Amino acid sequence: MDEAELTGEVTGRLAGTPDPRLREVMTALVRHLHGFATEVRLTEAEWLAGIEFLTAVGHLTDERRQEFILLSDTLGLSSLVDMITHGAGGSEVTESTVLGPFYRPGAPWRVDGESIVLGGPAGEPLLVRGQVRSSSGVPLAGAVVDVWQTAPNGMYDTQDPEQPAGNLRGRFRAGPDGGYRLRTVRPVDYPVPDDGPVGALLAATGRHPWRAAHIHAIVSAPGHASLTTHIFDSASQYLDSDTVFGVKPSLVRDFAAGPDGLEVVQDFVLRALP
Ligand code: BEZ
Ligand code: FE
Repeated sequence: MDEAELTGEVTGRLAGTPDPRLREVMTALVRHLHGFATEVRLTEAEWLAGIEFLTAVGHLTDERRQEFILLSDTLGLSSLVDMITHGAGGSEVTESTVLGPFYRPGAPWRVDGESIVLGGPAGEPLLVRGQVRSSSGVPLAGAVVDVWQTAPNGMYDTQDPEQPAGNLRGRFRAGPDGGYRLRTVRPVDYPVPDDGPVGALLAATGRHPWRAAHIHAIVSAPGHASLTTHIFDSASQYLDSDTVFGVKPSLVRDFAAGPDGLEVVQDFVLRALP
């Protein structure tokens, strides 16, 4: 049996997979995996290094640290799946981007205009405001804007024992006109966790671990597709080299001086479900 025949033998064994989608995905996976090994003439030592790398990724992953998602993010796979799912821009709805590993469901509810800063390091005060509306143009009263971001030291509350739980996280309900307002601090550029195998791979490939400064948001409303997105700070120095390939020009905003200090305006337009 030669190399190509071996690939055919393996995909042939998958032909009886009852679920047609699983059959399609597994057959393509085997074809591409074999194609990759064949193309680079993978050595046994390299195969073992790959197994050890993935083992280390698994050992580091638990409910607080998701090294597999980080691996997917830094290889651009998460952004590719986002593009496949939501398109590559140019539509009337707000563009989506990666979720990342630091979202925690059940953030504290906040009232309109409330601050999400509970403690931790001081930063530059910032007002975030805008309107949530439907792709049909109708304001979405009662839409939920769920936000999270790092503190000015570049760490999320879940990474930093110095921050109170729930710091820089919150859920807001849009008002009757779809408007929302929240107070926070200016987000900063920060490195993704790089003390594990993914960080070692970034270093070995000459890449930096930095993300462009952003605020995360998941915006939802009945009858509309939920939107997972970011607001990026146009002053960031990593907009062109975000290590997880998450920056989309339509999501970059100027954080400018407003009547009460620094202010950024971001509307969220959700796709109405048929
Ligand atoms: C984040 O923005 O929280 C993030 C996204 C991908 C990987 C690591 C962190
Ligand atoms: Fe983030």
